[in-house]
Formats: sequence, structure tokens, C-alpha cells
Amino acid sequence: MLTLGIETSCDDTSMAVLRDENELLSNVVSSQIEHSEYGGIVPELASRAHVQNIVPVFRWALGEAGVEPEELDLIGVTNTPGLIGSLMVGGAFAQALALALELPIVPVHHIEAHIVACLLEYPDLELPAVALVVSGGHSSLIYVGEWRKYEVMGTTRDDAAGEAFDKVAKLLGLGFPGGPEIERLALEGNPAAIPFPRPMLATADFDFSFSGLKTAVVRWVEQTGPEGVQEQLTDVCASFQAAVVEVLVEKTARAAAEKNVNTVLLAGGVACNNALREALRDQIADRARVLWPQPINCTDNGAMIARTAVLRADEAVGFGEFDVAASQALT
Ligand code: KG4
Ligand code: ZN
Repeated sequence: MLTLGIETSCDDTSMAVLRDENELLSNVVSSQIEHSEYGGIVPELASRAHVQNIVPVFRWALGEAGVEPEELDLIGVTNTPGLIGSLMVGGAFAQALALALELPIVPVHHIEAHIVACLLEYPDLELPAVALVVSGGHSSLIYVGEWRKYEVMGTTRDDAAGEAFDKVAKLLGLGFPGGPEIERLALEGNPAAIPFPRPMLATADFDFSFSGLKTAVVRWVEQTGPEGVQEQLTDVCASFQAAVVEVLVEKTARAAAEKNVNTVLLAGGVACNNALREALRDQIADRARVLWPQPINCTDNGAMIARTAVLRADEAVGFGEFDVAASQALT
């Protein structure tokens, strides 16, 4: 069975061709550079770029897989959550393909797909698991009792972890996306140099909050002045990153202990961060196996959408029944 996965929920246009459950024939991503000068994603620009990219990305994904459109059996497409204009480009494209090729479509929940990216790479992973999904739009702790059954244990009350990385990077005059830039500079800095707050570290729930931490960096930048900021750039990056990592790791460890799981999954764009990966493994290794996908499958990608579509193939609908950008909770 050949499945095409389509992901356009934010600023990446991505498609993948998956044979059966785990044999990835292609997984291509066109990242939009349009947003870099704004230090954040501009929804209108994202939709327009998807419109330009969608057909070339389709050709690229099929070309790399060596597959003709007529050979496809199933389409998976992200239909929630995301930027409405972005979702609609992928959704409308999926509908057009479904109509032309008489293919079924599986609507895919983006957050579930980030978790399923781990299954794509570790087909034997043991459930139940606790998943930390940290991206530009989401920070959630999710209990995965079995595939397709999720319990959201906690989520961010304001900014997502990746959003905090991006906003702090913008404040420091670094490029977009901010996460990789901050991680690179943090390698040279002292994580204990500036005592930034650890928001909600001590609360008994599994929620996060990162906007206060961002404000603390704003205040530090105001007090320090431009020259001081440049002098201490690596230290501020290392100190900010350490604060984010400590809260994420502590709450994930507690969630894993509460649910008594042997597996912890790390997913979403922020899962590319090595400081987070290492800290999580150090803290949890004696209790649970900690797994994360390779970087291309952490950030938004078509492969995770295709794999989720296969997992939910029995939910496929015809093109006329597909609800582009339906809002649905992760359950
Ligand atoms: O999953 P993703 O591609 O898109 C969303 O679903 O939001 O995640 C993108 C986010 C951005 O905020 C980016 O700064 C962050 O992931 N990110 C990182 C790293 N690489 C990407 N954050 C911290 N460290 C990284 N190495
Ligand atoms: Zn994502």
C-alpha cells in the first residue's frame, strides 16, 4: 500500500510517500524563508507560499519515491490544528487528488502525528508511554495508553516552548526559527550565568507557561543594554535554554512517574534540541526508555502524516465528505 502524507498546517510544505507501515520512499520539505525578516510566521505569507509550493512539492515527493500518482492508494492530510489558510491549501489539494484519482482521505490531527513520528522510527516501541510534544505551536504532555487513545495531561497556558525560543531569538536579534540559533550559541555559554525563572516548576499539575520567562528575558535585555547583551549573548542563550529545559524535563519525569510508564516519547520541533534530549535521558533513563525521531521527523513533515493515516486507515473518507480544517480535539 502506498500512502501520500501532506502537511501544510504552518510554514512548511511537506509531502512523503510511505509504503505499507514503515518503508519511507520519500519525505521532502520546502521550508518558507519568507518569514525570516519578520522573526515569526506571517499567516498570509504562509498561505501564499503553500499555494506556490504545493504542486512542486508533490512532484518532488513522487519523483524521489519513483511513484506515479495513479499508484497511490491512500492520502493523509493534516486538517487540525493549524493556521486556517495554510491548512486549506493542503486540504484542498488533497481533495483535488482524491477526486481525480478516486482515493480515500484520512484527516490527520497534527499533534497525534508528531507522536506517531516516533512509531515510524521505532516500530517496536512499547506502550503505554508519556509523550512530550514541544513545537512552535504546542507544548503538551500526553499519555498514550494505546495508539489512537490519548489523554492530554497538561498543556501550555500561554506561549509554546518553540514560540518562546523564537520570540527570545527575535529579541536578541537572531534569525528565525530561533530554536536552532539559541541552541548553537548556548553551547558556548554558561547556563548558570543569569538566574531566569522556572515557570510552574513547582505546581502539581502538568501545565507549562513560558510567557513570563520571555518577559524576564525582555527585562534583562532592557537592563543590560545593547552592548552588554552582545557581550553576554552566549550566556543569555544558555541561561534561557536551561530554564526551558529544566521545566520540561521535570514535568515530563513527574508525568512518567505518575503514569508508571516504561517509555517516554519526545516529539515536535523543539525535540531537535540536544540539551533537552540529554537532560531528559539523564533524568529518566533509569526508569524509562526515552525515544525521539531524527530531526527531519521532529519538525513538521509529511512522513508523520502518512504514518498516522495508515494507523487510522479505517477512518478514511471520500473527497466529498472531507472537512478541510475541521477543528477536533486530540482524544
Ligand atoms: O514542529 P515544528 O516544525 O512546527 C510546529 O508544529 O510548530 O516546530 C517548530 C519549532 C520552532 O519554534 C523552532 O524554533 C523549534 O521548533 N526548534 C527548536 C530547535 N529546532 C527547532 N527549538 C529548540 N532547539 C532546536 N534545536
Ligand atoms: Zn508541528
